Amino acid sequence: MKGLILSGGKGTRLYPLTYTRAKQLIPVANKPVLVRVIEAIREAGVREVGIVVGPTAAEIKNSLGDGTQWDVALSYIHQASPDGLAHAVKISREFLGEDPFVMFLGDNVIEGGISSLIRDFTGNQWNSQIVLKEVDNPSAYGVAKMRPDGSIEQLVEKPKLPPSNLALVGIYMFDHHIFEAVSAIRPSARGEYEITDAIQWLIDHDYTVFPHIHRGWWIDTGKPTDMLDANSYVLEEITPCLHAAAAIDSDSSVDSRVTLQAGAQIVNSIVRGPTIIGENTLIENSYIGPFTSIYHGCQIRNCEIERSIILENSRVIDIDSTLRDSLIGRNASVKRSSSKPSGIKMNLGDHSTLWV
Ligand code: TTP
Repeated sequence: MKGLILSGGKGTRLYPLTYTRAKQLIPVANKPVLVRVIEAIREAGVREVGIVVGPTAAEIKNSLGDGTQWDVALSYIHQASPDGLAHAVKISREFLGEDPFVMFLGDNVIEGGISSLIRDFTGNQWNSQIVLKEVDNPSAYGVAKMRPDGSIEQLVEKPKLPPSNLALVGIYMFDHHIFEAVSAIRPSARGEYEITDAIQWLIDHDYTVFPHIHRGWWIDTGKPTDMLDANSYVLEEITPCLHAAAAIDSDSSVDSRVTLQAGAQIVNSIVRGPTIIGENTLIENSYIGPFTSIYHGCQIRNCEIERSIILENSRVIDIDSTLRDSLIGRNASVKRSSSKPSGIKMNLGDHSTLWV
């Protein structure tokens, strides 16, 4: 069994953060989503992993290297343009050979990992296994129409009138027959080679596509609100840990669901978990509320922050109102200004949003 992670694409829905960074490298609970995907694949016993990369190839290679750190062998597969998930499979043929493989979208986070899925797939004679999840807004996804016996009749990409509320999760298992399918299909109306069309081709040609219904949470981290949701779920799952090189002064209160990484410093502050404070980050005279991840090298002084993600080397200083449901990028600065004329001043990047 091999692994194939899709990490190309543009990530337009996460602008401005993804102008300067691959979306799959944005951390959730202080660990990039892509690293969480690699760890899930490794935990399921798969060690040969291909990563499809696009315009952000250099940054991804720089962060992951050859995979030794996670005990996997990583190969990089260049996709010249993001022509669809089925196109990504097609160009990975040489890497995959005749082996069965699990394909995992590099921006998806799922509860409970994929070990049992891989066990079920390798223990059966299925040509493919797909993962479905009940959602409230099926029109935003690939959706499955089921037969009364529980098998799949049809898959439709982003239907206006969804035939069910079962969305296709970004984790798929295939054997080599998928290459016949991706060669046979044509681009969709939006100009992409759709993986739903390739799976439909398998169904129409009597190959076995087994649908697994996932009962836990699953987040496709396309938009900022998805990142915040994924962050909350993952923070609830991780085992809290106070690093020996973290410091809490006697005027602070840090509850048992908080993780402090090496060099984190809590001074005269209250930190409520689940929350994670990154390496060499200073929290001073502040309240950090639940479901918050503050990454490495940040300074938070005289503020209140809840259910937010703050990326590395950012500063949030002397803010009167509580910062909530916020996603702040790298090297950002949020400060109070005392100079006249008063009012809100900002240097916002393209596609930024500020709620006042
Ligand atoms: P999407 O979220 O469908 O696309 P995107 O990353 O371009 O995002 P946006 O819509 O905000 O512009 O992609 C899902 C995952 O698959 C993501 O990790 C990128 C990857 N991908 C590829 O590797 N190749 C492709 O051709 C496409 C379409 C996506």
